[in-house]
Amino acid sequence: MITKAKLEDAKEIQKLINAYAKKDLMLPKSIVDIYERLRDFYVYRHKDKLVGVCALSISWGDLAEIRSLAVEKRHSGRGIGKELVEACLAEAKELGVKRVFTLTYIPKFFRKFGFKIVKRDSLPHKVWTECINCPKFPDCGEVPLAKNIK
Ligand SMILES: CC(C)(COP(=O)(O)OP(=O)(O)OC[C@H]1O[C@@H](n2cnc3c(N)ncnc32)[C@H](O)[C@@H]1OP(=O)(O)O)[C@@H](O)C(=O)NCCC(=O)NCCS
Repeated sequence: MITKAKLEDAKEIQKLINAYAKKDLMLPKSIVDIYERLRDFYVYRHKDKLVGVCALSISWGDLAEIRSLAVEKRHSGRGIGKELVEACLAEAKELGVKRVFTLTYIPKFFRKFGFKIVKRDSLPHKVWTECINCPKFPDCGEVPLAKNIK
């Protein structure tokens, strides 16, 4: 079941993301990062256990980012990732966001939702200023994709 994250979810969210970060599939997050963005997160629980997370962060007047998508390996392939992305896209629409982007190692997954690869300089400068704090800056290898919301 998908819900918005609560404060008590923060450590489990971090654990799930950082387990993938250790395998170089995601970028690592500090607990401060998680608390600061907690209200952006959706979580998926299976029998009370947190098994999936995804966040929608507002970037600009018409732009938001889908970030930190992760589903525990044992629960992958069951449509949980899809549900989480769709929850973020539905919220984006409700908020009046015109364009959603993501920076990802799995462009193929996001193409299923209508995202298309875009040039880095088509996204506002602000997006890249956040990258300066990332341990993988400047060569993270993430691919930028975006989708217009109708
Ligand atoms: C990628 C990830 C979120 C997918 O979650 P999931 O719950 O297994 O995905 P779903 O079951 O909802 O799959 C939805 C669709 O995407 C496809 N898909 C799943 N993983 C994919 C991948 N890595 N690459 C391409 N397509 C993928 C599925 O085949 C399915 O296609 P279909 O609708 O045509 O049947 C999950 O495998 C994961 O957490 N991976 C490690 C972390 C990661 O890479 N996160 C992305 C951050 S950039």
